[in-house]
Amino acid sequence: MSNTVVVGAQWGDEGKGKVIDILAKHADYVVRYQGGNNAGHTVVKTSGEFILHLVPSGILHRGVRCVIGNGVVIDPEALVGEIEGLEKRGISVKGRLFVSERAHLIFPYHRVYDRLREDKKGFIKIGTTGRGIGPSYSDKALRSGIRVVDLYEPALFREKLSRSLSEKNEIFRKIYGFKGFAFEEIFSEYQRYAKKIKPFVCDTAMLLHRALRARRAILFEGAQGTHLDVDHGTYPFVTSSYVTSGGASVGTGIPPTAIDRVIGVVKAYTTRVGEGPFPTEFGLSLMAEIRKKGKEFGATTGRPRRCGWFDAVLVRYSCLINGVQEIAVTKLDVLDTLKEIKVCVGYRVRGKITRDFPASLSAQEKGIPVYETHAGWLCDTSGFKEFKALPENAKKYLKRLSQLLGVPITMLSVGSHEKQTLHLNRSHRI
Ligand code: IMP
Repeated sequence: MSNTVVVGAQWGDEGKGKVIDILAKHADYVVRYQGGNNAGHTVVKTSGEFILHLVPSGILHRGVRCVIGNGVVIDPEALVGEIEGLEKRGISVKGRLFVSERAHLIFPYHRVYDRLREDKKGFIKIGTTGRGIGPSYSDKALRSGIRVVDLYEPALFREKLSRSLSEKNEIFRKIYGFKGFAFEEIFSEYQRYAKKIKPFVCDTAMLLHRALRARRAILFEGAQGTHLDVDHGTYPFVTSSYVTSGGASVGTGIPPTAIDRVIGVVKAYTTRVGEGPFPTEFGLSLMAEIRKKGKEFGATTGRPRRCGWFDAVLVRYSCLINGVQEIAVTKLDVLDTLKEIKVCVGYRVRGKITRDFPASLSAQEKGIPVYETHAGWLCDTSGFKEFKALPENAKKYLKRLSQLLGVPITMLSVGSHEKQTLHLNRSHRI
């Protein structure tokens, strides 16, 4: 297998966990490159369901080594909890999990800051996961972040934490009327975590370069979705990391020239969690129907997801900026009972139709979707094993999506189980 990036092409929750789980069988390394425990990758195995937030889903495959790259922000409490949870379920992590010493840490004050900002009157509410992701990345950009490597230099760690806390505590007290945090408590808590995660910490960039030299196959596991990317997403309603395929390079130290293949994952419709523009969002009754059928509740926070029609304008942009060469479509079966299915092929913005996703937030919010309507297939697709056998209208729908995106569909999922996946070989690619 070549070096492959799997990236979400909508607003996250596209079903990347399942796609990665399938591809991980052929990989030597599975690598997370951005985000943190805001992600929730659900994988359904015969032994039960696993929801992974920080540890790459490749960990469920015995021979695979998993890496948390420098671009990830790590909440050590969450990491230790996840490692212990996996070990309890009989999945050995020792010698298979590697954590970048360059990754930045999330502290309790980041989590609190995240929530205080969300609740503050007059500030924009993003609808974050409340995991401290944005505040940790903003400390990184401000150059006041604390990295994994710092945990192992106690004097430096003490100095950095004390400097960071004195600034944060002042902000907490003066702006938010929140009492702040005591130094010693956090210091000793993080020293305990440091000990627990030490066996996993290393220079993951060098580890991956050795893997490259040995011609090992590396699978990069994107978290969230392209339209949550801090540069390319629906800013400011985004997460704080580089979600796009380019982020795989920045967030691991593997050069773009070493990446061979980019797979974009999309749902057969669209969902989003949190605030922000969503041009093709359903009305209430269809929303309730699809949410129920698709079990559209956040894997991390349990929040109900907003649902809408497939937006080809949104996904086409993702295909272009990620360099998507293949598409995996998930959850086709959720649309099985609809008589008519719409696809957004353009937006009407200030009287003009555009097929390019606009940068302006007001255009994203006020743009009126231009729809094509397709006849539904009104048939249970969850048991189909081959593309050829699918109902004609389902095939037509998928072919049209591929045509609008300019990218072949190579994988199709019609249920959460691995067996409910159709692999389209070259001659049958849509
Ligand atoms: P944050 O990443 O917690 O700062 O949240 C910023 C935005 O990204 C919010 O709208 C979240 O709902 C969204 N978000 C973050 N992680 C995920 C995810 O894994 N799936 C879907 N949405 C996410």
